Amino acid sequence: MLQPFSYWKRDVTSLLDEGWQKDIRAAAAGADFRAFPRTPTLSREASDVTHIERGRVHAETVMERLPWLYKLYRNEFLELAAEAWGEPIDAADDDRYGVVLNVQRGKTMRFECHVDSNPVTGILFLTDHPAGAGDLVVSHDPDAVGVDGLERDCTSIRPEEGQIIFFDGKTYPHYARCLPDESDVRIVAVMNFYTESCPESTRPPELNRHRFGDA
Ligand SMILES: [Fe+2]
Repeated sequence: MLQPFSYWKRDVTSLLDEGWQKDIRAAAAGADFRAFPRTPTLSREASDVTHIERGRVHAETVMERLPWLYKLYRNEFLELAAEAWGEPIDAADDDRYGVVLNVQRGKTMRFECHVDSNPVTGILFLTDHPAGAGDLVVSHDPDAVGVDGLERDCTSIRPEEGQIIFFDGKTYPHYARCLPDESDVRIVAVMNFYTESCPESTRPPELNRHRFGDA
């Protein structure tokens, strides 16, 4: 039976590296900003949306520039995910998608309406925003499509710096709202986690073809 949507939240500020804000800002400034094509299989955008403008700090850059974040993903955050889920949890073996940064800058960027391929998603909020600005919106309806569809019946989660959440983004479609000001920057670390019943081997191969050009 489908569990109603819920999420687990913890303040992890004390686990973050000294000077983390400076590191994160610098990495985010160099993000890959562009109109990304909708994701195959997982997109829950309305049919007329072909691209969504946003920024991404790819996994290999996170490993190189934010090694402390990569280490947290594989250790302390993994333990928190297991605590949140009440079962053993695995981090991704493939370093191309374990932990990335999503970055929104200015008023037009948002994150795509989509579902995840992994059963447990961790989001670490790295910037603060007032309610309604850049909220993570999670629909209560697994079949919801498009921004209006997701907004209809949803939980909105305000980004609070230093808070990590874990939720089932595979079942519940989600997206991130736009920011109100041109000078606003929203940064989150997004982490893929797996369970025994839904291991990394279930990741659709077309996702890797789409993102990394795998044969
Ligand atoms: Fe997601």
